[in-house]
Amino acid sequence: MKGALPAVETLRWRDERLELIDQRQLPDRIEYRACHSAAETAECIRTMVVRGAPAIGCAAAYGLALEAQRLRGSAPAEFAAGLDRASAILAGSRPTAVNLFWALDRMRAARDGGGDRSGADIAARMLALAHEMAAEDVRINRAIGARGAALLPSGARVLTHCNAGALATAGHGTALGVIRSAIEAGKQVSVIADETRPFLQGARLTAWEMLREGIPVTLITDGMSGHLMSRGDIDAVVVGADRVAANGDVANKIGTYMVAVLARRHGIPFYVACPLSTIDMNTAHGRDIAIEERGPEEVLGFGASRWAADGVAVRNPAFDVTPAELVTALITERDVVFEPDSQGLGALFAP
Ligand code: MRU
Repeated sequence: MKGALPAVETLRWRDERLELIDQRQLPDRIEYRACHSAAETAECIRTMVVRGAPAIGCAAAYGLALEAQRLRGSAPAEFAAGLDRASAILAGSRPTAVNLFWALDRMRAARDGGGDRSGADIAARMLALAHEMAAEDVRINRAIGARGAALLPSGARVLTHCNAGALATAGHGTALGVIRSAIEAGKQVSVIADETRPFLQGARLTAWEMLREGIPVTLITDGMSGHLMSRGDIDAVVVGADRVAANGDVANKIGTYMVAVLARRHGIPFYVACPLSTIDMNTAHGRDIAIEERGPEEVLGFGASRWAADGVAVRNPAFDVTPAELVTALITERDVVFEPDSQGLGALFAP
């Protein structure tokens, strides 16, 4: 891509530790935070140093691998108990993105799946799996991108909400992966990023990612999308997901539901790009998805600035649920499911 900078490294393994780009500092500063334990990794997930469902899953896998490295010389019972504790700490970091729990389950299976081996063997195997999950995430995002790119006409002006880009994954991104793949395929596609209050993932992260690669991007505030849709200035919406229920309901960043309703009102396709690991067949309905409520400070201001009236009550749900009926198609690495429902989603997992 024209003017492209090297791909951003959301997570990397350096000198036997996990390093995470600190997304709270972007776009002002590129700084990496080192994690040496599961507890440090969980804290980075909770405070959103790392965020985005697939990136959270990869970070959690590395968090458990770190803990296994730390404990590899302990007695077997202590090793197992330590890893159980670490897994519980990581599982408690954020509730909505199912990739976190999916990643912890895979790591647990790797821990238990090899018969009698030393702590060092198990730790090596867990680290190898964490590396593989990160590499696999990029491959999956490229497959999602290729399927999604086929849905976008050249010239499309695509609204995206939050950041479902390289920063939200191990690389390439899901929703932004669709944009990147469309551009790689020679299509002229431009992005409209809404700012995504209150954490500003659109203004800070999506805009930064797109600008770095010379992909045309225009920033709007969250309240502007209806107006632009009504004027014919948006051709498609592509967003990511934190958890898709078995009936096709989609939990994603707060404000997604509003965009989906507006898209339907204006006859604009609303696509959700996500890996199979974001689909939770054990959760029947969107209303069963745990929605994280975060602290009031994110709504009262940003960083050191505060603009709200002192003493005002605050609600800060971090996600909302878009009913399946508003989703034009779910774009996964295996297939595109139009009008997603339990049957269509079930077929994705058929052998
Ligand atoms: O609170 P965040 O920033 O972790 O929320 C992220 C989102 O809602 C993304 O859209 C979602 O995780 C998909 S990322 C590929």
